[in-house]
Amino acid sequence: MSAEPRRTRGATPRELPPGAEPDDHIFVDSVVKSFGDTQVLKGVTMHLKRHKTAVIIGGSGAGKTTLLRLLIALERPTSGHIWVDGHDISPLSEPELNVVRQQFGMVFQYAALLDSLTVFDNVAFPLREHRKQMKRREMRDKVLSMLSLLGLEGKENRMPSELSGGQRKRVGLARALMLEPEILIYDEPTSGLDPITSRMVDDLIEETRARFDVTSVVISHDMTSTFRIAHQAFLLVQGQVIASGKPDDLAYGSVDAAREFIAASGIAPERINRVDNQAEGERTIKYKAM
Ligand SMILES: Nc1ncnc2c1ncn2[C@@H]1O[C@H](COP(=O)(O)OP(=O)(O)OP(=O)(O)O)[C@@H](O)[C@H]1O
Ligand SMILES: [Mg+2]
Repeated sequence: MSAEPRRTRGATPRELPPGAEPDDHIFVDSVVKSFGDTQVLKGVTMHLKRHKTAVIIGGSGAGKTTLLRLLIALERPTSGHIWVDGHDISPLSEPELNVVRQQFGMVFQYAALLDSLTVFDNVAFPLREHRKQMKRREMRDKVLSMLSLLGLEGKENRMPSELSGGQRKRVGLARALMLEPEILIYDEPTSGLDPITSRMVDDLIEETRARFDVTSVVISHDMTSTFRIAHQAFLLVQGQVIASGKPDDLAYGSVDAAREFIAASGIAPERINRVDNQAEGERTIKYKAM
C-alpha cells in the first residue's frame, strides 16, 4: 500500500531459497505437521504467487485450517519450511514472529466483529494494539478514510448488529487492512452467504487485491467462488496437495480425484466469469453496491 517496496526484515534482498520461484510470495516447502502420532500435513509444497489470489480447497478434515495456522505463524511446522518474501519463518523467535504476523491480515468467517464496539472502534482496534504511538487524530483519519474507501462512509458510529452481512464483511476487511498487510487471508469468506452476496464478496476480494496490491490466500468450500477469483487453486486431500494450477487445470486435468471433486460440486465451470479473464480496466469498484 505504501509507495516504498516493503520487505519482511533487513534491507537487502535475499537469494532465492532452493526450490523457490522468483514470483513466490509464500513458499511452503515440504511442510509436515503432526499432532501427537497423527500426521495432519504430509509434506505440503506450494508456491503462492505475489499479488495473486490462491484458493485452497479440500474436504472436511483435509488440513486447510491447519495449513492456514502455519501460514500466519500461529503454529510451527513439525518439519519443512515456510518462506515469506524469501525469509524462512519456521525458526523465528516469538518476538520475530510477531513482526511477521503483522504482514498478514485475517478476514474471518462471519467477520468476527466485536459486538460491543462500534464500527469505528472495531476498525481502530489493530492500530490501538500495534501502533500505540499513533496520534488520535491520525488514527481517526486513517480509520475514516478506510471506511470511506470500502463504501462505509457515515457508518462509523453504528454497532455491528445494525449492519447487513455484506457491510459486516467490509468492516472485517477494513480492520484487516489497517496494519497495511502484504498478504490477506480469508477463511471461508462466502460460507453461509446467499449467491448474490457471495458474488459481491468475490468482487470485494478481487478489488481489494487489485487496489491494495496484496497477495490473497483464500480457504474455500465454494467452487463457484474458486473459479471466479482464483489465479491458482490447490486441492488438499488428507494432508497432501494432490492437484494445483488454474481452476480449469483441476477441473479438466489429469488428476481423477480433482476432476471428481469439482464435478461433485455440480458447478458448470465454463459459465463462470473469471477475474483472470478481465482486463484491469474492466473492473469497476463495487464496494458501494454491497
Ligand atoms: N490441535 C490439534 N490436535 C489434534 N488434531 C488436530 C488439531 N488440529 C487439527 N487436527 C486434526 O487435523 C485434521 C485436519 O484438520 P483441519 O481443521 O486442518 O481440517 P480442515 O481441512 O480445515 O477441515 P474443515 O473443512 O472441516 O474445516 C483433522 O483430522 C483434525 O482432527
Ligand atoms: Mg477448517
